[in-house]
Amino acid sequence: MPIKKEQIHAFINRASEAAEQISKHVEKGELIHVASHFDADGLAAAGIIGRALLRLEATFRLRIEKWIDEKIIRKISADKPPLIIFTDLGSGYLDLLNAKLSGHRAIILDHHEPTEEPSKTFTQVNPHLHEIDGSRDLSGAGVAYFVAKALNKKNVDLACVAVVGALADLQDKYEKKKLGGVNEKIVEDAINAGCLQVDTDLLFFGRETRPIHKALARTTNPFIPGISGEEDKSLAFLANFGITPKREDRWRALRDLSKEEKKKLFSGLSDYLLSKGLPSDVAFNLLGNVYTLTKEESWTPLRDAREFAVLLNATGRMDKQGLGVAICMGDRGVALDQANEVLQEYRRTITKYLGWLNEEPGRIKELDNIYVVHGENYIDENIIGTVSSILSTSLPNPEKPVIAFSIVPGEEMIKISARTLEILTRRGLNLGEIMRNTADKYSGRGGGHNIAAGAQVPLEHLDSFIKSVDHLVQKQLEVT
Ligand code: C5P
Ligand code: C5P
Ligand code: ZN
Repeated sequence: MPIKKEQIHAFINRASEAAEQISKHVEKGELIHVASHFDADGLAAAGIIGRALLRLEATFRLRIEKWIDEKIIRKISADKPPLIIFTDLGSGYLDLLNAKLSGHRAIILDHHEPTEEPSKTFTQVNPHLHEIDGSRDLSGAGVAYFVAKALNKKNVDLACVAVVGALADLQDKYEKKKLGGVNEKIVEDAINAGCLQVDTDLLFFGRETRPIHKALARTTNPFIPGISGEEDKSLAFLANFGITPKREDRWRALRDLSKEEKKKLFSGLSDYLLSKGLPSDVAFNLLGNVYTLTKEESWTPLRDAREFAVLLNATGRMDKQGLGVAICMGDRGVALDQANEVLQEYRRTITKYLGWLNEEPGRIKELDNIYVVHGENYIDENIIGTVSSILSTSLPNPEKPVIAFSIVPGEEMIKISARTLEILTRRGLNLGEIMRNTADKYSGRGGGHNIAAGAQVPLEHLDSFIKSVDHLVQKQLEVT
């Protein structure tokens, strides 16, 4: 259902209320504690609120959290901050926050589904409260952006960071990989602020930084037989169309190709896919909306918003969240160099994990209704989510959700990351609900979106948890 103007107005009014409360605390010079989520959208949200508070010369401190638990709440409330702001976090933990923080003033800027009514001392800004879908129409960074914009019109220059947050949470689910819903308003603001350009173009990942043949070889949607995964063949394919891979000493990226070259490449790929027996419209999956941050330097991973999102994600997952937030707040130079190094390391790590999973047959198990990925204590708990996302688009049966887990050394709880694709959420599958209910049943805690969710459960209940999830997936898909 399209979002009505009234829904957006009601949401923006709520964001303005939150902004007013923040202003009052800032005017009094009171300490504000900001807690944000450690994934890329959370880091973008933290960067937006951080920059907005800096502009107000507020006294604040900012911490990045993987989740909220009692220990974290104790730390946050230790020196009694008069205001706590949660970004990209909070709505999924209302039971805990109500129980432990109801004596505090808190502002929750989130897009996860609220689990219950918040305490009277909390102000919650969340698209779900206005029947706006927080998993595709607005991200955590987007919610933070509307509050920042209400604080100061100048903050419209942060719209680009919110676009990165939405892409990081894979919200480009509209036709041709477009951001829609409330995200569309943010895209408009970013274009008007002069920091964003949106084009329809070839979608190969890495348009600013990856040599074109590598970008082509990495393309798996659609899978191009004989080219996907094969850099040499990809290089030869480009040569057929007179596309030289290098100019002077530099590898050319997709951004360096002329319109003419891209046209030739696209029609060449269409003919090739057809010759391999694929339906004629499949080639159109190669085209879609691309989001260019025009104020960023060319050939850096910050210029293409999807590459920016991956860079941020890498800093979050590799425990270098401060770097990610700094970049969202405007730092470049050394911070960017360091983030680039973190990104390389992150890529090496993921490749290593995927290789390890394929080394032995039992590491990815196919059950009746799900795949179970045994990260054991080999795959880092922070990276299991990324591994789960990658596998959800690459395992043979797209109609089976991926449930991946990592054992956290020295901890009783294991980390579970569940991912599925739209073909199943459209049929009614809601992994967030399944994770929440099953984790509740086995003394853990879970939640998230229909398409991407997670949980922490005690190791001793792992087998029963998996069985139960396998069963619930079947049940949810049966009803529809
Ligand atoms: O906590 P948050 O909502 O920001 O995290 C969403 C997570 O789910 C991200 O890691 C994102 O990559 C993943 N996701 C996904 N597929 C989607 C939407 C989100 O894998 N369609
Ligand atoms: O950790 P992971 O990336 O798998 O999380 C996917 C989504 O599930 C995120 O939006 C995260 O915030 C949410 N989640 C949750 N409760 C948990 C674990 C994850 O709401 N216990
Ligand atoms: Zn988010």
